[in-house]
Amino acid sequence: MKPKSNIRLSIIVFLFFIGLIIRLDCSIGQSFESLSPTPPMGWNSWNKFGCNVNEAMIKEMADAMVNSGMKDAGYEYIVIDDCWQTGRDSDGNIIPDPERFPSGMKALADYIHSKGLKFGLYSCAGSKTCQGRPGSRGYQFQDARQYAAWGVDYLKYDWCYDEGQDAKAAYKTMSDALKECGRPIVFSICEWGDNKPWKWGKGIGHLWRTTADIRDCFDCSINWGGLGVLQILDKQAGLEEHAGPGHWNDPDMLEIGNGGQTITEYKTHFSLWCMLAAPLMAGNDLRKMDDSIRMILTNKEAIAINQDKLGMQGFKFIDYGDLEIWVKALSDGDAAFCFLNRSSQPVDLDFNWKKMGIHHFSVAQNGFNLWKNEYHVKDLWNNDFTGTSKENLKHRLAGHEALLVRLSNGE
Ligand code: GLA
Repeated sequence: MKPKSNIRLSIIVFLFFIGLIIRLDCSIGQSFESLSPTPPMGWNSWNKFGCNVNEAMIKEMADAMVNSGMKDAGYEYIVIDDCWQTGRDSDGNIIPDPERFPSGMKALADYIHSKGLKFGLYSCAGSKTCQGRPGSRGYQFQDARQYAAWGVDYLKYDWCYDEGQDAKAAYKTMSDALKECGRPIVFSICEWGDNKPWKWGKGIGHLWRTTADIRDCFDCSINWGGLGVLQILDKQAGLEEHAGPGHWNDPDMLEIGNGGQTITEYKTHFSLWCMLAAPLMAGNDLRKMDDSIRMILTNKEAIAINQDKLGMQGFKFIDYGDLEIWVKALSDGDAAFCFLNRSSQPVDLDFNWKKMGIHHFSVAQNGFNLWKNEYHVKDLWNNDFTGTSKENLKHRLAGHEALLVRLSNGE
């Protein structure tokens, strides 16, 4: 070979390896699904603050997430929902509201990262967001690159002003943009369950909303977009087969601490979201939480049910009308049970574990077997053992109360 063609070959090989390195950097050497092996946990501005978001408040929320013990309990994302954006510049770059975010998004992301937390933003697959701000339609790759440059770790992507687009295709476009943007970004699909995203969302996003918006009430339904805890729960039964590590059904963010429900109801809301392997996105003012709310949101044993590495979503095992029993298989052959009293009147529970035939689903699900093993039964709200699976579980459930227990095999 002539020296000239040798040089040319070396240049081609060199460029090929540079290209490979850039490509590896973009995919961050991490598979997309591995970004969310357990349901994401964090805080989102929408439920409490709506459009009233600004830089100072978001920083205070990051401080409060650390100081309140929420970070230690596993919460990590601080997500700004709608209304942070005002327009696009002449090059099409998205512009954050300069009055509300005077230091810009990069500085805010840096602050949040300096606390050991992660930063999330909101956009929309349509031409506008639900509050009429610029959406990402036509700008998906440009926006994704901008998010990466700012240090965004999580994107919630809504479905207003969709203008007849195909939902799967629209979410796939943004997913492709995120996969190429050079930074790992968790992708939260928010099209309210309209196009059954549990059937196509795996591999496109990490979580997908299954219903219209939650409202801060236990048992209510307010036209469009207003579903209480029970109304949302009812729409989750049967979706369990679609969830697993890296891809989660999302029954919407938490309302705990926003004032519309009793402490008992908020404990039930949290118990159910833990059973459902739901993303745990707090939606209250973390700066002003009293202890009773903080104790609910940071209940480590309830969170361990939610974050269990097996990643199985709990399912409705028995429906007696006002009383429902939900079951979630856990790793190491354990299981969680949630006894839910939907009514406002007390219900006396006298539950015989073996008679219920719970062994039927047990073998397939990680070895849980009430016929073979005796389990310790722990009430996760009282942090106390109520007995073993040999004895009947007796408990007076107050109106709207849920008893959340873990059955563990061993000491
Ligand atoms: C939709 C979403 C909500 C919230 C608002 C913001 O309603 O479902 O969670 O993001 O938009 O406008």
